[in-house]
Amino acid sequence: EAVNHLHRSAFHFQPPRHWINDPNGPVYYKGFYHLFYQYNTKGAVWGNIVWAHSVSKDLVNWEALEHALYPSKWFDIKGTWSGSITIVPGKGPIILYTGVNQNETQIQNYAIPKDPSDPYLRKWIKPDDNPLVMPDYTMNGSAFRDPTTAWFSEDGHWRTVVGSKRKNRGIAYIYRSRDFKHWVKAKHPVHSKESTGMWECPDFFPVSTTDFQNGLDLDYTGSNTKHVLKVSLDLTRFEYYTLGTYDPKKDRYVPNGDTPDGWDGLRFDYGNYYASKTFFDYKKNRRILWGWANESDTLEDDISKGWAGLQVIPRTVLLDANKKQLVFWPIEEIESLRSNYVRMNNKNITMGQRLEVEGITPAQADVEVTFNVGQCLEKAEAFDPSFTFKPFDLCKIKGSNVTGGVGPFGLITLATPDLEEYTPVFFRVFKDTSTYKPKVLMCSDARPSSLKQDRGPLKQDRMYKPSFAGFVDVDLSDGRISLRSLIDHSVVESFGALGKTVITSRVYPVKAVKENAHLYVFNNGTQTVNVESLDAWSMERPLKMNNGAL
Ligand code: FRU
Repeated sequence: EAVNHLHRSAFHFQPPRHWINDPNGPVYYKGFYHLFYQYNTKGAVWGNIVWAHSVSKDLVNWEALEHALYPSKWFDIKGTWSGSITIVPGKGPIILYTGVNQNETQIQNYAIPKDPSDPYLRKWIKPDDNPLVMPDYTMNGSAFRDPTTAWFSEDGHWRTVVGSKRKNRGIAYIYRSRDFKHWVKAKHPVHSKESTGMWECPDFFPVSTTDFQNGLDLDYTGSNTKHVLKVSLDLTRFEYYTLGTYDPKKDRYVPNGDTPDGWDGLRFDYGNYYASKTFFDYKKNRRILWGWANESDTLEDDISKGWAGLQVIPRTVLLDANKKQLVFWPIEEIESLRSNYVRMNNKNITMGQRLEVEGITPAQADVEVTFNVGQCLEKAEAFDPSFTFKPFDLCKIKGSNVTGGVGPFGLITLATPDLEEYTPVFFRVFKDTSTYKPKVLMCSDARPSSLKQDRGPLKQDRMYKPSFAGFVDVDLSDGRISLRSLIDHSVVESFGALGKTVITSRVYPVKAVKENAHLYVFNNGTQTVNVESLDAWSMERPLKMNNGAL
């Protein structure tokens, strides 16, 4: 089948063709990083899902292996859905995954490698004593899925969390087992929240409150931790997380009062990002996050392109030093693809000015810029704390062309020189009228990204071009704010303030493609902003990117 390459990524993880969704079972084992993922063997829409499997030594170059799981037994005949891997001492890696049976009931199964000494983990067995867990009569059997990596507790039990709902209440059930075979549901869910709908792909892990450099494995028991519970909301296709406290005796998680639990919760990524999942990389002592970015194109174009979906660049996850949120940063390995370095230093950008970043390939680039706005903060627009605007709506009203005091300023990616098409990623600084502190909005606005016409009024016939946005919790006390964007043809991943706010966007320019794409740094605020430094690189294509026989 023909595959249209125009908007395919060069350095993001993508199979050669067809549909891909959730990352599954990420793990580091015997010298290899493993990534499994939900994959349609037959086409560029969701369906016929298997666990496809790739391995890598560096998280950059990937080799495709044969599919690890596909429907074949009564307990998964209608689906081998998302799940995780746990390395069980004495046994090796074990997959926990959701199988769908003939009645469309979702049940939790396990699979083991045929040969745990094979670092590639090529072959997987689904033992006949499956399933491990069936939903009981109190539960919703069509909303019970995506088991997390299990952890071993001091009381001699393994524990895993499974996503669910009852009516419209999102639920994370917790199960325990001594032998990894017999699993018992705890009396209460580990957490739940009314009117959030189905909780897909829960993720539950500790972060250190004292060490802001290293990640923690799930069985860490020191007292200097907080827990993170992330859920993916089926209803809106957004995720949110809370920081909180997990009580292993009561098996309950309680979010901290200061992180909102629900629709206004904090997000790993404020853009097109879903079904994310972390794992602990004991090689480098870090917790790494994978996440899926779906297409935002029309259904018909997904099909005619012959492919849909990609995994965003893996990110490290740490607690921010303020202990109120997490911070994310692309894994350092991705920097090995940088070439053609250009730099800009100490450049003032006045109102309406736009400077081109030349000497790199703008459609396939990594750019890091540090702005200084310290001189002009008192000229920031007023932000009335009684505003009920969500970041998304604020960005919609105050786009990259709407003049402000301090900002909008930032990057213009995937642009034509006349700005017929462009994807701006930018900040706008407000001043809170009650606290007098800066309030910073970060936007990645897909609205002007493409000249392509919609095919019709139906959702599937329209491109999704949202004004993605989030606030950035910085006080700007030294006047600085940084922005990094990874640009890869149809994906722009942007990291504000060293990863405090992250936004991934999918865009499909018609003219601003390949050599015709341009990159600029801009300012549309009345106040001059200073580009202290701007470092930009072309990004090479990895030598090996999943070039196996799929
Ligand atoms: C999330 C999800 C999961 C499910 C899988 C099926 O995108 O719906 O809940 O296990 O995808 O492919």
